[in-house]
Amino acid sequence: MSVKIPRGTQDILPGTVEKWQYVEAIAKKVCQNYQYQEIRTPIFEHTELFQRSVGDTTDIVQKEMYTFNDRGERSLTLRPEGTAAVVRSFVENKMFGQPNQPVKLFYNGPMFRYERPQSGRFRQFVQFGVEAIGSEDPAIDAEVLALVMDIYQEAGLKQIELVVNSLGDAESRTAHREALVNHFEPRIGEFCQDCQSRLKKNPLRILDCKKDREHELMSSAPSILDFLNDYSRTYFEKVQKYLTDLNIPFTVDPTLVRGLDYYNHTAFEVMSKAEGFGAITTLCGGGRYNGLVSQMGGPDVPGIGFAFSIERLLSAIEAEGVQLPIEQQLDCYLVSLGDEAKDYTVKLLHQLRKAGIGAERDYQDRKMKAQLKSADRLNARFVAILGEDELNAGKINVKDMESGEQEEVLLDQFIETLKTKMGAK
Ligand code: HAM
Repeated sequence: MSVKIPRGTQDILPGTVEKWQYVEAIAKKVCQNYQYQEIRTPIFEHTELFQRSVGDTTDIVQKEMYTFNDRGERSLTLRPEGTAAVVRSFVENKMFGQPNQPVKLFYNGPMFRYERPQSGRFRQFVQFGVEAIGSEDPAIDAEVLALVMDIYQEAGLKQIELVVNSLGDAESRTAHREALVNHFEPRIGEFCQDCQSRLKKNPLRILDCKKDREHELMSSAPSILDFLNDYSRTYFEKVQKYLTDLNIPFTVDPTLVRGLDYYNHTAFEVMSKAEGFGAITTLCGGGRYNGLVSQMGGPDVPGIGFAFSIERLLSAIEAEGVQLPIEQQLDCYLVSLGDEAKDYTVKLLHQLRKAGIGAERDYQDRKMKAQLKSADRLNARFVAILGEDELNAGKINVKDMESGEQEEVLLDQFIETLKTKMGAK
């Protein structure tokens, strides 16, 4: 029996990988415009990193991590998300000491969660994420939101919605937490085991429960927005003002709590409203994490960021019917006839490539007609035909596949002629 790909993972084959490259390039370009720099962190980290940052009571840490002991009996975990590692690296590399603050970073790489696979939900997925660490200015919250909306706009998405909320600061959260306990406690027996243990440890997590979503106490739960202190309320109002100034439409949803523990103040998600996108409508999630850097052993430095998976971005693109301008074109296909000409194209092909011209030839000893078919399949801009006669005369036949024009050129001027023709297109 042949070995199959693990559940929840996928091969990204040629033909599809170009779409990935295209949207990843857009995201990188937008990040560069906003002055964010790339960071690459390891695929696995010490398990403790995620327990301490993402939070012990979250689904990610309790149920979804790929955790294993290495041969030295250290507990390691395949990263389920990127923020924890970026913050670890920020502290470890003392980036808080850099002259330019906030430190603005982006990343793009595989993440791993043991979730039930379904449309838009994988066990290995690629997150593109951004973190701005070192500023508690509502303008940077607005910048991060503008950045992600720009990426989606550049990718051609129209049917998307930005949803924001504030989770407040520590004081606001303590007040809200107390109200949540009072709200749920009398009927906590009607909730799942997880929620029962969350009640005292972290009642906010109850609002994020997938099993008890429909319980009537959920919709009537006290809203964090009623518990924001002056600082938190003013902060949130400023973020909204800036978004309005930037003409970025948004809605406020007081029930948006996010599935990770490190958030405070601004929390947000971008949803797809496209029909056929699937049951999971979240494209992107993020928010502010002011206590995380100090919790990870660094100074008390605030941060904000987001992440989205390329998988969900591409399904939104498909659901909206956006045509990505991906056209594969080959500069020149070398057709050869006869043994001597075939031998000659080995060198000629190499010279073309060294001259920066995308080139290909036949390796299956095929007849002229089949070689021309290959050139066609590869969308060759020029086809150059070399037979024994041409070779003896020191010439090669060049055909412009767009105009249909055909020209015999001297072999030793072939590459220069082709370059000129390519420049003229
Ligand atoms: P998250 O909400 O857990 O946040 O994930 C962010 C995004 O990753 C989701 O909106 C979705 O696009 C994608 N995603 C998550 N799980 C899966 C999955 N199983 N399959 C496909 N895509 C998935 C975070 O991870 C935070 N670190 C975001 C952040 C950055 N907050 C601040 N900075």
